[in-house]
Amino acid sequence: MGIAGTGGGTRLCLVIGSPIGHSRSPLIHRLFAEQFGLALRYEKREVAPGTLRAALVDFIAEGILGINVTVPLKEEACALAHVGSERARLAGAANVLSFGADGRVHADNTDGLGLLADLAAHGVTLRGRRVLLLGAGGAARGVVPALLGEGVASLLIANRSPDKAAALATAFAPLGPVRSVAFEAGFAEGFDLIVNGTSVGVTGGALAVSRSALRATTVCYDLVYGSGETPFLRWAREGGAARCIDGLGMLVEQAAAAFELWHGLRPATAPVLGYLRTRI
Ligand code: ATR
Repeated sequence: MGIAGTGGGTRLCLVIGSPIGHSRSPLIHRLFAEQFGLALRYEKREVAPGTLRAALVDFIAEGILGINVTVPLKEEACALAHVGSERARLAGAANVLSFGADGRVHADNTDGLGLLADLAAHGVTLRGRRVLLLGAGGAARGVVPALLGEGVASLLIANRSPDKAAALATAFAPLGPVRSVAFEAGFAEGFDLIVNGTSVGVTGGALAVSRSALRATTVCYDLVYGSGETPFLRWAREGGAARCIDGLGMLVEQAAAAFELWHGLRPATAPVLGYLRTRI
């Protein structure tokens, strides 16, 4: 795949996925660019699964600088890239593509970084903590390396389909203390942090997880966010969790990491998150 030159002027950045209409990324990147007086062309484009290769050829012809990739294209994007960061390779998924002067497509995954940055912003530390991760799909997989990299005491992956949780735990066992369990098993221990990586809240449905995992000190973090309380955070609040945090901050933080990759500038995230909170 050849890469076209920039053609001069402001190079194009995109967010792609399917559906893509709801994406906040254009607004977030515009707010980041305003912090630096940077001219920005950032658009959203619908790309159907299985068609990314052809779409990339068109984007390259348009002089693309970078692409944020969202559901359901992250795995496809990672597989198509010429070069992948270790983070993307471990996740098997890319949420960022960059188009460098070397003519190659670079894949990265800033979702894990985004989660860590947002947890840090909330004063939540991970070293020595007992962590429960709900779900074993793409979103959950993307944050496992980041959680293990922070030196958690244990990471238990629980999934409705236990085979998928077991496969994930086996794949990441070299990175740290990770085990798996089925949802219906109940939990003998409580957790310091519970992260929801299931798509409940995006796709609807109820979360049939035992509240035996919750303690009065447990922090609950949902990778997704919504205009109201997500089903997982309702489950957590009604179960007496100490804190309930949605994934809007993670969205802003992963976007900041992508912005920095493309423009070499580190935007302030707190004002952008504050603005978004007034709009959802
Ligand atoms: P994503 O890319 O958003 O992670 P995915 O790869 O399809 O989407 O994974 C969805 C995850 O949410 C899976 O872990 C799925 O559990 P299964 O592996 O058992 O399908 C989980 N999930 C979806 N709906 C759920 C529900 N109602 N209750 C529990 N888990 C659910």
